[in-house]
Amino acid sequence: GAPRRLTGKRILVTAGPTHEPIDPVRYIANRSSGKQGYAIAGALAALGAKVTLVSGPVTLATPPGVTRVDVETAQEMANAVAQALPADAAVMVAAVGDWHVEAAAQKLKKEGGAPPTLHLSENPDILAMLAASPRRPGLVVGFAAETEQVVDHAVAKRTRKGADWIVANDVSGDVMGGEANAIHLVTADGVEHWERLPKEEVARRLAERIADAL
Ligand code: C5P
Repeated sequence: GAPRRLTGKRILVTAGPTHEPIDPVRYIANRSSGKQGYAIAGALAALGAKVTLVSGPVTLATPPGVTRVDVETAQEMANAVAQALPADAAVMVAAVGDWHVEAAAQKLKKEGGAPPTLHLSENPDILAMLAASPRRPGLVVGFAAETEQVVDHAVAKRTRKGADWIVANDVSGDVMGGEANAIHLVTADGVEHWERLPKEEVARRLAERIADAL
């Protein structure tokens, strides 16, 4: 077919939650549905990009034209992201677990003992590592899910993580798992406040902005 705006561009997208195992049958997770990340991957592919979607455990269909790599933990996601390089842009939408536990080899038992204590260790910050890496994509976009001081936190996060853009959203309402999203786009030039839109429309507009930038 005819070339589209992102034909020839390689774009990496992360989406969904991570699962951090506690034992063979239990894990720590979060409420991310993956919907926004999947919509972004689909919108970028619709503009002709070669999209690799590194996905945590979700129940969504792979968008047309997208190459999907399934992972479970943050460490697996970090490895898959490194494997997917080089890329012209990266859009890190995944709600990566901040901590993992040293998983028990056998199912923890409640019988005859005190409840177990979970010792948490920090996970790699995939976005920060990518932004600081020698193989850094030319455009690195992070997300910020916050429940308070959404824009202030996003502005600070952009600098702290070395991202070019941060897409900030307030997840105190029904955003996680919901169909709509009101986002603030934080760039070096300032902050844009977008109206509440279906996640598919947020994705289309963001894909167009990425095409402008590339
Ligand atoms: O620090 P915080 O989790 O709020 O940052 C959110 C942004 O960082 C998102 O883009 C998310 O995908 C990314 N992130 C990451 N690896 C982590 C934590 C967050 O890539 N371990």
